[in-house]
Amino acid sequence: MRLDERVPEPELMEEPAQARAYSEADFAEAHQGVVDGLLQRHPHVVGAKRVVDLGCGPADVTARVARALPAAEVVGVDAGARMLALGRERIDRLGLADRVRLVALRLPAAPAALAELGRFDVVVSNSLLHHLAEPAALWRTVQQLAAPGAVVHVVDLLRPVDDDAVDELVATHAAGESVVLQDDFRASLRAAYRPEEVRRQLVDAGLDEELELVVVADRHMVVTGVLHHRPPA
Ligand SMILES: C[S@@+](CC[C@H](N)C(=O)[O-])C[C@H]1O[C@@H](n2cnc3c(N)ncnc32)[C@H](O)[C@@H]1O
Repeated sequence: MRLDERVPEPELMEEPAQARAYSEADFAEAHQGVVDGLLQRHPHVVGAKRVVDLGCGPADVTARVARALPAAEVVGVDAGARMLALGRERIDRLGLADRVRLVALRLPAAPAALAELGRFDVVVSNSLLHHLAEPAALWRTVQQLAAPGAVVHVVDLLRPVDDDAVDELVATHAAGESVVLQDDFRASLRAAYRPEEVRRQLVDAGLDEELELVVVADRHMVVTGVLHHRPPA
């Protein structure tokens, strides 16, 4: 089947086996790649004081960011209670609880709830965008949480041309994984946005001049840049 349109998957990942399999999977290469990409493109973030990870899930990326930015208070945000519980277990296990906090919040969130979190000098997100039926919610949240001059670094999958291409990516990158994880990866690829769709989202959000979109691998794109916008009130 051609994938001219995305095939949405459920927003949250609250099915216990799915959440546990996702949390225990070895995403070291991809997740460390998110952090390395952030530091390569924006080396000054190493001294950042406040970082938010949107759609933090079981907090593997969150923990990697916290280790890479040793001066930062890190806030992970997610709407999934099960994911947050797994994330908190991880943060405790790694001894990061003194400066990493995970907060239950569903995007789009009320401005007052976001205001409570304050502003951040780094906004990261990995693999959240393709879960959102209303992608503008992510870009609005980025604008609301970013302090002037904040670095934004959003990584996500991109949707292949058809199901054959999806199967090829699953075979290349997830052949050794459990069926649950393979199915999850397949569903995520089919739900992902295309670069041209995300560029349109950025134009609609008024973010296209400050954030650039780069396709960084056969299945990943990064939206990255420094946001000088005055955050909306
Ligand atoms: C594929 S996981 C990615 C988790 C993590 N960022 C990572 O890279 O491992 C997507 C996460 O987005 C969360 N999520 C989905 N829709 C959301 C929403 N509207 N608001 C907040 N979190 C959401 C899910 O609960 C899930 O934990």
